[in-house]
Amino acid sequence: MSEHFEPVIIGFTCNWCSYRAADLAGTTRLKYAPNVRLVRLMCSGRIDPTFVMKALSGGADGVLITGCHPGECHYIKQNYKALRRHLFLRRLLKGLGIAPERIRLVWVSAAEGTKWASTINSFVEEIRALGPLGWQKKLATDSKQDAAQEVLA
Ligand code: FES
Repeated sequence: MSEHFEPVIIGFTCNWCSYRAADLAGTTRLKYAPNVRLVRLMCSGRIDPTFVMKALSGGADGVLITGCHPGECHYIKQNYKALRRHLFLRRLLKGLGIAPERIRLVWVSAAEGTKWASTINSFVEEIRALGPLGWQKKLATDSKQDAAQEVLA
């Protein structure tokens, strides 16, 4: 694997806990890998499987979903919805021949800045070990082959 591979990770965070944990990590000057681009949702239950698939097909190497701990969701039980969708997405990726470890769900409260930083670092290292997903490149190649077959047909 290339030593220069820097994973691109999309992080979907709950506004009420994990986004604030990211803020806390920043204000307490905890260092963590800069590879995660955050998308703030009002709740982890807002995650739609298409958001994740779009992120991966658009060039992300991994997707991190974070939310309030079970029993602490501000919308009562919506983080259980996130958990079910996470399990569904892992099965879907496996079926597509993609390592399900490319998606991770973690519960992080607003007071857990240290957990936030260590979660980011460990996930970046896990994705780095898996290597680039390269789905966008594969989709472009497949569509060129489809176009070539249409011309030949
Ligand atoms: Fe944080 Fe629902 S409000 S997971």
